[in-house]
Amino acid sequence: MKTVLLTGGLGYIGSHIAVCLQQSWRVVIVDNLANSSLEQLDRLQQLCPIAKADVFVADCADLTAFEAVYASIRPDAVIHLAGHKAVGESVEKPLMYYHNNLNATMNVLTLCARYATRTLIFSSSATVYGPQVSPMREDMALLETLNPYAETKAMSERMIRDFVKTHPDFQSTVLRYFNPVGAHPSGLIGERPNGIPNNLLPYIQQVASGKRPHLNVFGNDYPTPDGTPIRDYIHVMDLAQAHVAALNGATLGHHVYNVGTGKGTSVLELVTAFETATKIRIPVVVTARRAGDLVESTADVSKIEKELGWKATRSLETICLDAWKFESSQR
Ligand code: UD1
Repeated sequence: MKTVLLTGGLGYIGSHIAVCLQQSWRVVIVDNLANSSLEQLDRLQQLCPIAKADVFVADCADLTAFEAVYASIRPDAVIHLAGHKAVGESVEKPLMYYHNNLNATMNVLTLCARYATRTLIFSSSATVYGPQVSPMREDMALLETLNPYAETKAMSERMIRDFVKTHPDFQSTVLRYFNPVGAHPSGLIGERPNGIPNNLLPYIQQVASGKRPHLNVFGNDYPTPDGTPIRDYIHVMDLAQAHVAALNGATLGHHVYNVGTGKGTSVLELVTAFETATKIRIPVVVTARRAGDLVESTADVSKIEKELGWKATRSLETICLDAWKFESSQR
């Protein structure tokens, strides 16, 4: 069985990928626990037989520490997820984001070259598109990014692209995630934000559980049917399966794919979907717009469907039910 290394593999997205991959790949994880914990591993082990010895606590941005681990794994493929991801924090601490996210990507490429790993899947974000008209297509030129987090994703993508130009035996796949939400249907793993959630569904989940009194809707005067912004929410299990498709369908060269559903949902539509699925009322208060928010961000998903044969299958109702199952198991 071939070995795949998941950097940041104990995090929200990595842990779901580990569950989906374990039947066909030996999964090894490197994580610095910056935004995860070993408790996450206990929960993950209830879902897949990953050995403790295959989980290494190390920082990918530290080449010496990372190489010590990498040399013992010598993976056939890497799924590179490790990175800071809070937009607001990246504006306050830009150097922390550039240092951590860019060094991690550079080190992954350095070690791929040094240890003859020839397959890389990179966790990117739709945020690299910048403010342009949806649906976003992979062949659109990227506009100026809106914050350091987004910039680290765009720069990492370019680093990988340039590396591949000089390594013709390499296969890299960049996956641009739209809005990953939901949780594993068992309720054992899901997203656990530190402090006040920045993102919409985690915030709604905490209103539902009584941790927060109401949802602040950041503006209802956008040019959309109900005045609230539109996003492409994708179930994290669908997203995880896109990584399996990318890994199993990897081909030589550099490839970029959107990972979304292709369907847009407004803030208020997501609130209603959550209320309908869970029968829990979510009080809302309309506040000012959040700086930097786009009116609409949805994916054109025809490329990934055609080339990798992957398509999101889970509904908004399933997203809400699974998110709520996870949230309600946290109390
Ligand atoms: C955010 C990030 C984006 C990142 C993505 C990861 C910002 C500006 N953008 O995208 O870079 O890649 O998360 O998933 O943070 N909303 C509310 N009330 C809330 C929270 C959100 O009304 O308490 C609204 C927002 O205004 C937005 C929508 O919900 O219209 C979705 O917000 P969010 O979940 O933060 O995702 P994005 O803004 O798309």
